[in-house]
Amino acid sequence: MTEMITVERVGRVAVLKFNRPKQLNALNAQLAAELVETASTLDRDRDLGCFVLTGNEKAFAAGADIAEMQERTYPEMADEDYFSIWEEFSAIRTPKIAAVNGFALGGGCEVAMLCDFVIAGRSAKFGQPEIKLGVIPGIGGSQRLSRLVGRGLAMDLILTGRMMDAEEAKSAGLVARLVDDDKVLETAIAAAAQIASYSKSAVRWAREAVNRSDEVTLREGILFERRVFHSLFATQDQKEGMQAFIEKRTPKFSGK
Ligand code: CAA
Repeated sequence: MTEMITVERVGRVAVLKFNRPKQLNALNAQLAAELVETASTLDRDRDLGCFVLTGNEKAFAAGADIAEMQERTYPEMADEDYFSIWEEFSAIRTPKIAAVNGFALGGGCEVAMLCDFVIAGRSAKFGQPEIKLGVIPGIGGSQRLSRLVGRGLAMDLILTGRMMDAEEAKSAGLVARLVDDDKVLETAIAAAAQIASYSKSAVRWAREAVNRSDEVTLREGILFERRVFHSLFATQDQKEGMQAFIEKRTPKFSGK
């Protein structure tokens, strides 16, 4: 049983919801451990096709838990490699959509960014306010934000600590889809169900190919993509997907 994460299964989609409303879903060690354990277990379920990660109407998450960190010393933080657990969440291979209402600040913004894409409500607010606490982002914000919105805007947000509203986040490229607040979760679940309906291998390799673009040169990335494209011709899903197109019917993907 998890306390800080609730799980709801909607067909081939799992909705994981942060459950610390009084602390605006501040991300503490217990919450992170519960999230990673739950998501890792579900990741092994062959019938699961996509995660939706969400909070509540006031906050996706207002950051890492400041009260938990406040008294820590440098050796404690370094020895424990504090926040490294989030790399385990990032490494989970089932796609993840962040469904964001309210505040996504500090670690909240970073966890939204380590999902594959973000669907946000019009009143969502994003930012990396760590500078105001005498620290810097610690769950990848300095790297992922600059890749998503460009170096200049990332510097602005990280050095001033200001919040960015959902319109700005959409035009900057941090938010993929902007919808009315009360449509965020249903839009995210519908997108997740659509992803989950496709060939599991094609989805997996599409993600890996896009993620490669952050890591390697254009030439190597294109070669990787082409080799993966070739390898998908070893799947039954490729045969079924193309056959169904020719026969003008909906494909039935088996994940094989
Ligand atoms: N950690 C711990 N507790 C938090 C929290 C956080 N990040 N954010 C909010 N809370 C708690 C508040 O302490 C408060 O608790 P009490 O009721 O016990 O006092 C409760 O949640 C509600 O918060 P507020 O009363 O502050 O709510 P508000 O509506 O007035 O303000 C807010 C909302 C602007 C988001 C404000 O809560 C805020 O500024 N929060 C901190 C944001 C922040 O600095 N995030 C970065 C954290 S550091 C980090 O994330 C490092 C990293 O890179 C991973």
